[in-house]
Amino acid sequence: MINKPVIIVSGKNGQLGRELQNLAASNQNFQFIFFDKDELNIADEAALKNIFQKYSPSFFINCAAYTAVDKAENEKDMAYKINAEAVGNIAKQCNQFKTSLIHISTDYVFDGKATQPYKEDNKTNPVNYYGYTKLKGEELALENNPRTIIIRTSWVYSKYGNNFVKTMLRLMHERKEINVVNDQLGSPTYAKDLAEAIVEITNGQRSMVNNKDVPHSSQPTAHGFNNIYHFSNDGIISWYDFAVAIKEIKQLDCIVNPIPTTSYPTPAKRPAYSGLDKTKIINTFNIELKNWKESLINCLAQL
Ligand SMILES: NC(=O)c1ccc[n+]([C@@H]2O[C@H](COP(=O)([O-])OP(=O)(O)OC[C@H]3O[C@@H](n4cnc5c(N)ncnc54)[C@H](OP(=O)(O)O)[C@@H]3O)[C@@H](O)[C@H]2O)c1
Repeated sequence: MINKPVIIVSGKNGQLGRELQNLAASNQNFQFIFFDKDELNIADEAALKNIFQKYSPSFFINCAAYTAVDKAENEKDMAYKINAEAVGNIAKQCNQFKTSLIHISTDYVFDGKATQPYKEDNKTNPVNYYGYTKLKGEELALENNPRTIIIRTSWVYSKYGNNFVKTMLRLMHERKEINVVNDQLGSPTYAKDLAEAIVEITNGQRSMVNNKDVPHSSQPTAHGFNNIYHFSNDGIISWYDFAVAIKEIKQLDCIVNPIPTTSYPTPAKRPAYSGLDKTKIINTFNIELKNWKESLINCLAQL
């Protein structure tokens, strides 16, 4: 029997984790092994060590995260532990086992003062605690493992879990009229498209990973320290535009009113603008981006 290189995926029950599970079955190049929080709590260093010792993975895709942006303002310790400390520990294990780490980060590392799409090397300056923990996670992932790829993404939705699209659908069914902010701009990301991009990256890197037939010492170093990429669907819109599109595609009667952020205060501040420049990921990994509306139609067809 030929042993395929192993890919470990943490956070398997999140939006991205679920979409990766859907793709894994048909992937011939790797053996994917998925873990939920009970099977692998990424904040548990001993559990991480066990997994690395047992599987010596070629890739570790970290889909686990503390993603409750507003709650993070009051649960600072837990958010930091999961989004920063644990990511540093994953990276240390990756370094020891020459594993490539694919770690997902966020547009919320930026302060939103830009007027054109953020490039990977633009100055970060998170405006909320979640963004701060994710930025620390990026730093620890890059510092502790040279084979790290960070993918910053934004406004993630899917048919799984809780997200803006599902919340809007519920509210549009329950209410005659809803208000949605129109002064925060960014790009939606269908988790399925992000999962496809990640699988494409792993397939493209296959010849460079620590295949069990090749001794670790002869492996090329796949990545340097500055391996950050931006990914979302194509197009920059407001949450209001997003809601209107959901309403139109689903042909619902609910009235959608545009409101300013000042009329919808939240515990955590959000960046006013978080468009991401995707040129680097397109050129480096030959990724084709889908337009945000096309992907929204695809997702809504399943809801
Ligand atoms: N959602 C967005 O809009 C958005 C935007 C930008 C970037 N991102 C980033 O994209 C990535 C994927 O996001 P997503 O939307 O798929 O998140 P998600 O649906 O919230 O999934 C995160 C998963 O991580 C699990 N988890 C939490 N703590 C854990 C721990 N200590 N050990 C193991 N698993 C743990 C969660 O389990 P429980 O639910 O049981 O806690 C959940 O299943 C994250 O890194 C996130 O920061 C997301």
